[in-house]
Amino acid sequence: MVNADVTLHDVVRLLADNEGEARRTLNMVPSENAMSGLAKLPMLLDPAHRYFFNESDHPDRWHFRGGRRVHELETGLAVPLLRELGRAEHVSVRPLSGLNAMTLVLAALGGEPGSTVVTVAAENGGHFATPDVAARLGLGVEFLRGSGPHALDLDHAAELLARVRPSLVYVDQSHCLFPIDVASLVATVRAVSPETLVHVDASHWFGLVLGGAFRNPLDEGADSLGGSTHKTFPGPQKAVVLTRDAAMDRRIRDTQDYLVSSHHFASTIGLGIALLEFRDFGGPAYARAVVENTRRFGRLLHDRGITVAAADRGFSAGHQLWLDTERDGVAPKVAADRLHAAGLRVNFMAGLPGFTGQGVRIGLNEATYQGLAGDDFTELADVFAAAVRDSEPLGGLADRVASLRTRTRVGAPVDSTSSLFENALALCADSLRTTQVAAPSPQGVTS
Ligand SMILES: Cc1ncc(COP(=O)(O)O)c(C=O)c1O
Repeated sequence: MVNADVTLHDVVRLLADNEGEARRTLNMVPSENAMSGLAKLPMLLDPAHRYFFNESDHPDRWHFRGGRRVHELETGLAVPLLRELGRAEHVSVRPLSGLNAMTLVLAALGGEPGSTVVTVAAENGGHFATPDVAARLGLGVEFLRGSGPHALDLDHAAELLARVRPSLVYVDQSHCLFPIDVASLVATVRAVSPETLVHVDASHWFGLVLGGAFRNPLDEGADSLGGSTHKTFPGPQKAVVLTRDAAMDRRIRDTQDYLVSSHHFASTIGLGIALLEFRDFGGPAYARAVVENTRRFGRLLHDRGITVAAADRGFSAGHQLWLDTERDGVAPKVAADRLHAAGLRVNFMAGLPGFTGQGVRIGLNEATYQGLAGDDFTELADVFAAAVRDSEPLGGLADRVASLRTRTRVGAPVDSTSSLFENALALCADSLRTTQVAAPSPQGVTS
């Protein structure tokens, strides 16, 4: 228990315990992922304390100078890699998270207060926050709806768009098993409301888009694309916005100047490292495997008697699966608690499209990133189903999960005898030493 008497020893011990637990467990929350130690390294170092604004490297604009020596890790690494993988000339790496990127895009592209934006109804998987953020910016909000939980009704969209002539259609699938057909939606927008912009917030799908497992919404005609870099993309908690249109880029830049101050420079460098690893060490194969593993895991759970949504459509086309454990006689919170005791981290929540009560939401993105493959998923499905039903001792199931976590991760192999590893380790140790020198404490930090 953390309280006012806590010592630094206690803090480090708790973090170490948590680290030990994290290594024995498997995170199946679809909005989270892991990333490599190398990508985390900048967060321990000096860039974590610095502002960086001078993207053009103009000699008169180094008002904040601390990022000068390493600024190319953003401008010459993260940004060009995003341009290449996202196939967009203009890239912003300033948003801090998906929600921050949403606020930025609605403010920049949503029009003057009083304008109307159109977004995806919650019953069709739209993000819960979009209507509130838009309303706070003084924007009216209307909703795209569907005939069922997984598809939009384009006739309804055409009627709505022609009637309200929105400034922006903000596509924000969040609870999502199947991607919206962006090309058809864009064609509808262009036909009935040609002035309207289309932004796709692909926070959940971003790694699948960059890895080529999903079509890039910009290729489908969307004006801009954005989203978090830590859900299906195995990167830091941040977000990005991409466009091929210089005028839209200008609007984003003008707005981000007052909406984002520190953009977390160290995380941005971490993003650059994560993108480099993604491009050069298996990103596209990872993205394809996420989709294959998710479908396969849906089938494996279904075969074990768990009610998995969208069985008639192959369960999922992305990384999420939704389980109606209530139907199987286990309340979702109880299922999530049992899974937690068995070393599996899942969401339980209300609001999944098509569900009347709560459901269990899982993702196969992090398991895939951690390197689970082949028969691992049969073993994982056995453990998962037994935990939900509480049909085997949960401690034994947790041991089985721990042994699945010994597999190799997708990504850059770091040989512990290499100079890369030695240099990175020396930087970590150095960072820690600096802390000790700066903070000798009566609690005996150095003992
Ligand atoms: C479409 C969409 N936008 C924004 C967000 C918020 O992202 P973050 O948690 O990175 O702020 C999410 C999160 O699920 C999302 O799905």
